[in-house]
Amino acid sequence: MQQIRLVGGRPLQGSVAVLGAKNAVLKHMVATLLAPGHHVLGNVPRILDVTVMGEVLHHVGAFCTREGNELTIEVPEEPLAEAPLEMVRRMRASILILGALLARRGEARVALPGGDDFGARPIDMHLDGLEAMGAEFRLNHGVLEGSAPDGLHGTDIALDFPSVGATENVLLAAVLATGTTLIRNAAREPELTDLAEMLIRMGAKIEGAGTSTIEVHGVAALQPTYHRVVPDRLEAGTYALAGAITGGTVTVTNCVPDHLRMELRKMNDAGCVVTTNIDSITVSGPDRPSPVDLATLPFPGFHTDMHPQMVALLSVAAGTSLLTENVYESRFRYIGELGRMGADIHADGQHVVVRGVETLSGCEVDGCDIRAGAALVLAGLRADGETVVTEAHHIARGYDGFVAKLAAMGASIQAH
Ligand code: EPU
Repeated sequence: MQQIRLVGGRPLQGSVAVLGAKNAVLKHMVATLLAPGHHVLGNVPRILDVTVMGEVLHHVGAFCTREGNELTIEVPEEPLAEAPLEMVRRMRASILILGALLARRGEARVALPGGDDFGARPIDMHLDGLEAMGAEFRLNHGVLEGSAPDGLHGTDIALDFPSVGATENVLLAAVLATGTTLIRNAAREPELTDLAEMLIRMGAKIEGAGTSTIEVHGVAALQPTYHRVVPDRLEAGTYALAGAITGGTVTVTNCVPDHLRMELRKMNDAGCVVTTNIDSITVSGPDRPSPVDLATLPFPGFHTDMHPQMVALLSVAAGTSLLTENVYESRFRYIGELGRMGADIHADGQHVVVRGVETLSGCEVDGCDIRAGAALVLAGLRADGETVVTEAHHIARGYDGFVAKLAAMGASIQAH
């Protein structure tokens, strides 16, 4: 998918089912490396990042096959202790292979990760945590070489910030380490809790996942398992906002409304009518949203990955909104693109001032990352005339059937 062409002005109506979370399944795929044998993951989305992670696993000797939404992974007795440079560069989540390979093989060679353009995204907390457990690292021509000559051991780790990836890397290492690991100031994201649930099913001893302190009692070996991936709250939230921005009504099914509590509250404050059921959310958008102030924060705060889509909604609000980005130092490239569509948005440091305008007008815009691309499509659904979102392959990294799902709810939209 190179570009998405759409014509705005049609209120979306209908329902859309979401699949498993990108930011869970990628970690679950890495977690399978902790136990040789036959693993099965259910509710797996067809997205580019899953394909890339499949290639990373293939390189270390694991074999992925897909049937419908089930992904089967055969993990060898002894995976190769090395993740290939070109794949790690394409997807930051591959850095998690570090914890898993150190735990299984006592060594790991991983290129320094790439990923989205959100400013510097260091991995210092990942490395500090693993070093505290006995790992040693050195950088050799762009490749991070890790080893744990005496094995990994449990310890007390306090993260500077509740980093999702650092918590996961330490967790993956700790389940097979000797002794007890405490992870303080741990991330509390539902995808991480889901990873812990999968690991527990594999035989790991983990307490406190979903709270700020996770306690892991290392075990000698784990077994393969079946695990159904937690629904994607970002996919769910994006479709809810797609309905809202068009003034339509969209029901999102197969999701967990509780995982979007803050985001739904802010949609409600913006004048949307939000109702939830046990596994579905219905959102109706107003003609013109009300302005809302919000700040992105780790879970249970407002998710940074819903920030661009929410700004798209607020760009047509009747008033001025203030958004503060607290997770990334720079996530603002999409603002210039929304500006080309007539939005009045300015970033100053971490703050984004959104002065609502009455109309947006379609034009060609650059979807520079997954969520920016989604936000620009949402803006295009509201805009007059045709919008063309280029670099649309980013959207395919994280959304399964994005264009088809929007078209099924009445959008005039095509992928090229
Ligand atoms: N950070 C450090 N040092 C570290 C680790 C993180 O300074 O060692 C900083 C980062 O630079 C960032 C902040 O801490 O400013 C948060 O990063 P975190 O580690 O929590 O994020 P991540 O694990 O790299 C995951 C998701 C992102 C999502 C963030 C925040 C995956 C594959 N990625 O990234 O998802 O934005 O958590 O919730 O799970 C997306 O799906 O579009 C996406 C970018």
